[in-house]
Amino acid sequence: MKISSILKKKIKKSLIKSKIKINQKIIIQKNKNDKNGHYQLNNLYSISNINKIDPKIVSQKIIKNINSKYMIKKINFSKPCFVNIFLSSLWIETTIKKFFFNKIKKNFKYCTKKRKNVVIDYSSPNMAKSMHVGHLRSTIIGDSTARIMEFYGHNVIRCNHIGDWGTQFGMIIAYLKIIKKEKLSNIKKLSIERIEKIYCQAKKISLKNKKFLKKTEKYTAKLQQNDKYCYKIWKKIIKLNIKENKKIYKLLNITLKNKHIIGESFYKKMLPNIMKDLIKKKIAVEKDQKIIVLLKNIKNRQGKSMGVILKKNGSFLYSAIDIACMKYRYQILKANIILYYVDSRQKQHLKQVYKISKIAGYISKKVKIKHNIFGIMLNKQNKPFQTRSGNTIKLSNLIQESIIRAKKIILKKNNQIKKKKLLQLSKTIGIGALKYFDLSKNRITNYVFNWKNILSFEGNTSLYIQYTYTRIMSILKKDHKNLIKLNNSFKIYNNSETLLCIKILQFKEILSQSVKKGEPHLICNYIYELSSQYSSFYEKYNILNTKNKKKCITRLKISYIISKILKIGLKILGIKVTKSM
Ligand code: ARG
Repeated sequence: MKISSILKKKIKKSLIKSKIKINQKIIIQKNKNDKNGHYQLNNLYSISNINKIDPKIVSQKIIKNINSKYMIKKINFSKPCFVNIFLSSLWIETTIKKFFFNKIKKNFKYCTKKRKNVVIDYSSPNMAKSMHVGHLRSTIIGDSTARIMEFYGHNVIRCNHIGDWGTQFGMIIAYLKIIKKEKLSNIKKLSIERIEKIYCQAKKISLKNKKFLKKTEKYTAKLQQNDKYCYKIWKKIIKLNIKENKKIYKLLNITLKNKHIIGESFYKKMLPNIMKDLIKKKIAVEKDQKIIVLLKNIKNRQGKSMGVILKKNGSFLYSAIDIACMKYRYQILKANIILYYVDSRQKQHLKQVYKISKIAGYISKKVKIKHNIFGIMLNKQNKPFQTRSGNTIKLSNLIQESIIRAKKIILKKNNQIKKKKLLQLSKTIGIGALKYFDLSKNRITNYVFNWKNILSFEGNTSLYIQYTYTRIMSILKKDHKNLIKLNNSFKIYNNSETLLCIKILQFKEILSQSVKKGEPHLICNYIYELSSQYSSFYEKYNILNTKNKKKCITRLKISYIISKILKIGLKILGIKVTKSM
């Protein structure tokens, strides 16, 4: 149930009845200032304009012909050009009751009528390095989106497209073989740290030394042709990295499991046939040991036409793999929607892949493919967030720091806390705060990373919301919960309650917007507003000590429903709650 959709239908019917032409979407929005109505019609002006009728007259017709008996208490025109709508208490009470019995008591689940197969490509780290802060946004925004979509009722297919088949392995192998003259028996001793160092060194050498660069290309090709030495080293590197990342996902409460890894190497079997097919269809040409696609509209940085290289010196490149991947996701995974939570620098790349896949007939026009880019994390000086020495910050270090900082805050408030509880709480609070801060920012813009704001009890932070939750939990003792579960009535007594109830009923609306846009920050904003509205209510009104028993039950019920929404809201963001803080 979406309030705005119901009102839209009502307005539409009324316009038709009034014989007013509608050739545009009807825009209904919730009002920021409730004194002017709970909702408003926003495009009265353009509707009137097209009909060449004075807006005031159009509004009078709408008001006269709208079916308002039950849902609408009051509807009026206001300057400059709005129609304001006030919802009736009876409608709110009945709808809250329905919401309580159908959703809250049955542990919340939505099932959209338009259930789709949604592939979400996120995290997808490179296997030659350990994860760094650059992976944080893709990992947590992608994961929240997966949870939100699933909660809404879609069939979500998580894809961790790990970088496990590119030139980085040729580099590492070439370094081990040529520079270190490493024997196969020695690879047992490889560690993540060492691999990362080797990769760095190899990259440096290859920039200066053309001969070495050629060798790295040779080893990439060898690996892709299943050479035993190369394969063994490769396997070891991947295994080590997956194990390491698994620990990070677990700490961060990310739902990615090993079964969700469908990395680059997975597509290797598809590549030879795809290349043949592209050549046969005259989309690609073979030239000087390369397979190239020439597309009219693809330009290089200088604005000149350029080709997309799919295979070079025997090895398949990133684009070739992504074409196979797109084909697989559409034809085998039956995706209706594919969402890429991938760095914005890959925009051009994904555009090319999409274009080639479409021309080749590997995907249908009907699949919705969206590259959901995100801004980057900045330091206080508005520069990319790095260590003091200018290196990238490891994700595991950032997570540990969040836990340590949370621990200090908890100890300040309660130094008697037991060790086990302290550790658990520090994780819930520290990691929750780190994730929430990121999720609460508009996905597309850059943001400044600042521990003080992240771990604050004030403003739009996880601590504020988690704290509001614990406050409600301290009111809702067991006997109160039983009382409200048994009591079937629901009555509103004052305007603050009305507004809280309307806010509660807007949850579905926000959820569906967040699903549509792939933007978890909409959920953050909503649960923050709900928390702060509840806190004001809590300061102003007695809940347990109200003499009037009926009033007490209403307030307990509202508190109970809000606690459930806060909990589920944080859960679909991937953030845990605690009963006490
Ligand atoms: N592994 C890539 C990187 O680290 C990201 C992969 C994104 N997904 C994709 N289908 N290309 O930049």
